[in-house]
Amino acid sequence: MVDRRTMLAGGAGVAIGALGSSPAAAAAGGLHALAATRGLSFGTCLAAPRRDNGSLGNPRFAALVERDCGMAVPENAMKWQAIRPSADRYDFAAFDAIVDAAIRRGLRLRGHTLLWHYDRWFPRWLVDYDFGSQKRATAERLLQTHIRTVAARYGRRIGSYDVVNEAVDPADGSLRSTALSRAMGGAEPVLDLAFHAARAAAPHAELVYNDYMSWEDGNQKHRDGVLRLLEGFRTRGTPVHALGVQSHIGVFEPTDSIERLVVRLTPAWRGFLDQVTGMGYRLVVTEFDVRDRGLPADIARRDRDVAAFARGYLDVMLSYPQLRDVLAWGITDRFSWLRGFEPRPDGKITRGLPYDEEYAPKPLYGAIRDALAAATPRR
Ligand code: XIL
Repeated sequence: MVDRRTMLAGGAGVAIGALGSSPAAAAAGGLHALAATRGLSFGTCLAAPRRDNGSLGNPRFAALVERDCGMAVPENAMKWQAIRPSADRYDFAAFDAIVDAAIRRGLRLRGHTLLWHYDRWFPRWLVDYDFGSQKRATAERLLQTHIRTVAARYGRRIGSYDVVNEAVDPADGSLRSTALSRAMGGAEPVLDLAFHAARAAAPHAELVYNDYMSWEDGNQKHRDGVLRLLEGFRTRGTPVHALGVQSHIGVFEPTDSIERLVVRLTPAWRGFLDQVTGMGYRLVVTEFDVRDRGLPADIARRDRDVAAFARGYLDVMLSYPQLRDVLAWGITDRFSWLRGFEPRPDGKITRGLPYDEEYAPKPLYGAIRDALAAATPRR
């Protein structure tokens, strides 16, 4: 197993060198075209169109999306902070622009997110909201109206929603307390309401619970909490179709063998995924990238390890036929959220996405391509 992985990771490096960014590369077809031959789909998040960001308004970025992606999801433009400047106002300008540009290019769209159930990411006005004497009814109305308004506006153009994002506290696996859960007397009713409202407003759509429980050490309580939540959804008949596995995977400490790390992490992760799929949930990889904070600065070494770690992870994910859609959280390191959100201690640019900051493909590109190529075709 270790030999095979080493070989494949090495092979990815060689192949990507040969691919380069030449016309021959384009002719070879991108990640989505390859994914499609396996019944899979590959995509990225997008910012609102501008010439100088990770969006379809930036010609260089758009060229990569055209080459490699069949789907897209807004990075920030559908969040409450973006479309809900106040309780009584919506601002869809940025998200509309993403949707229009994506549809024009024939991309399938996912919606992210109808409810990021985490006070830290609520708009300030919602954290401070005065729910009055009928707290529960007021909170219900606020949430339901939000979901209805968004879903009605985009209709069938959005085929899958991260209805609820990050409701589980990784520290102990409990459900997070938020302004909404305090008003409604608990988090469960909030989450259930969100899914019921989404089903009513978008009966065609795939409804996803999305979270960042992951395969690294330290994730056990988070995984257990998510399992309890998913069980609860089933028990209560809450309409949830899939678990969104964000997949911001990472190597946080120096390690002398990525292959050994992959082998060590895999059994617990498989145990988790087996339970999730055993409850009848599909899987979506919603926000894939690789955090490289524990890897050495040396670029050749770092890129090789990032690629090997990603390959090990994607192989496990893709071994589940319940997974069809794989979305990365960006395409080039130039615009990766990791640069600001999780900078390397040495200040070097993070290298967690398939293209580097100059839009050149890296070994990670080859690892994703090889993992997709190795996947069993979906029926
Ligand atoms: C991140 C964006 O990439 C950043 O630009 C923003 O500042 C914060 O949110 N999990 C999620 C995504 O579900 O919405 C987050 O996106 C990354 C982690």
